Amino acid sequence: MAKKTIEDIQVEGKKVLVRVDFNVPLTEDGKVSDDKRIVAALPTIKYLLAHNAKVILCSHLGRPKGEVNLKYSLAPVGQRLAELLPDTRIWFAEDTIGESAKAAIADMKEGEIVLLENTRFHKEEEKNDPAFAKALADLADIFVSDAFGTVHRAHASTAGVANYIPAVAGYLIGKELGIMGKALENPERPFVAILGGAKVADKIGVIKNLLQKCDSLIIGGGMAYTFFKAMGYEIGTSLLDADSIELAKELMAEAKERKVNLLLPIDTVVATAYAPDAEHKTVPVDQIPAGWMGLDIGEKTIELFRKTIVEAKTVIWNGPMGVFEMPAFAVGTKAVAQACADCEGTTIVGGGDSASAVKKLGFADKITHISTGGGASLEFLEGKILPGVAVLNDK
Ligand code: 3PG
Repeated sequence: MAKKTIEDIQVEGKKVLVRVDFNVPLTEDGKVSDDKRIVAALPTIKYLLAHNAKVILCSHLGRPKGEVNLKYSLAPVGQRLAELLPDTRIWFAEDTIGESAKAAIADMKEGEIVLLENTRFHKEEEKNDPAFAKALADLADIFVSDAFGTVHRAHASTAGVANYIPAVAGYLIGKELGIMGKALENPERPFVAILGGAKVADKIGVIKNLLQKCDSLIIGGGMAYTFFKAMGYEIGTSLLDADSIELAKELMAEAKERKVNLLLPIDTVVATAYAPDAEHKTVPVDQIPAGWMGLDIGEKTIELFRKTIVEAKTVIWNGPMGVFEMPAFAVGTKAVAQACADCEGTTIVGGGDSASAVKKLGFADKITHISTGGGASLEFLEGKILPGVAVLNDK
């Protein structure tokens, strides 16, 4: 059922608590090093400011484990936000539900912002403690969920708070769910899913769900070697998820049954060690020499994957093709990023490593949508219910 959004509710003059995902990377000297998530929250914030709401922002940052640790303070985020909204008065509260927060909210005027301190400075946050959720709700009249990156967590500030005040979705939630939801439910075809990463077990839910929906499923990255093992090949010292060999066989059988074109690498870059300067060469996947480990996809594979990706009308990509942190083994991931950039259809990159690869390579503006959620987008692609969305009021 469709959820209410900020446009379905009267916000004028109201105190609106917005859960954003300001869990952003900081530099050694405490500056925001990537403000994508802050920028992504601006449409909702600007809408509320323009409609004369009192905007109270809350978020977690890092994993401070329920204790006050100023290394994880949201103060640097407040500074960056002030640069992005130079005409808006922004108050920074030094606590989340305490005196500082209450005083700032009491003093604020319509069209202003109060940014609360890290919700995870309270251990009650991750426990979804009802009293803590109620204390957050008591700060405001309305709750807006816009923290897409954290909607897979049933925490007090993402889920519990919605039990006490009207709860609606912001624009970022709408955008993320709209684009990814369309790709899953009604994709333009051919629909190609590309999955990488280390462990089959971590991606099993996504693979199973996507096998029901896509025309081609490309598998690369560390988990491909478990599939090769399942096919009876020797994989040398490549990454093996031994518990998932049977699973890999089942998935290959399922793909066949569903007539999904399952594309695995046909050649691989193997190295003598897991090191940036290790001796390396390219071999067919059924000829990995003993003592060598696969760290990237090979050139023939790149060609094969590229053709399928470029011709697609819808592409979803999650997970690198190799050890892209090491330049010698980043070629496959770069090539897939390039193929996505060259594809004229809708291209969606899940958060995490593949999103940073695309950004680092300068292809970000050639991709239709780069999700702000790593874990959240993966759980959405698995078809799981996202607790932070489920709690919102229905239309
Ligand atoms: C993320 O970066 O994936 C989100 O902000 C959630 O953070 P978490 O994994 O610490 O809950």
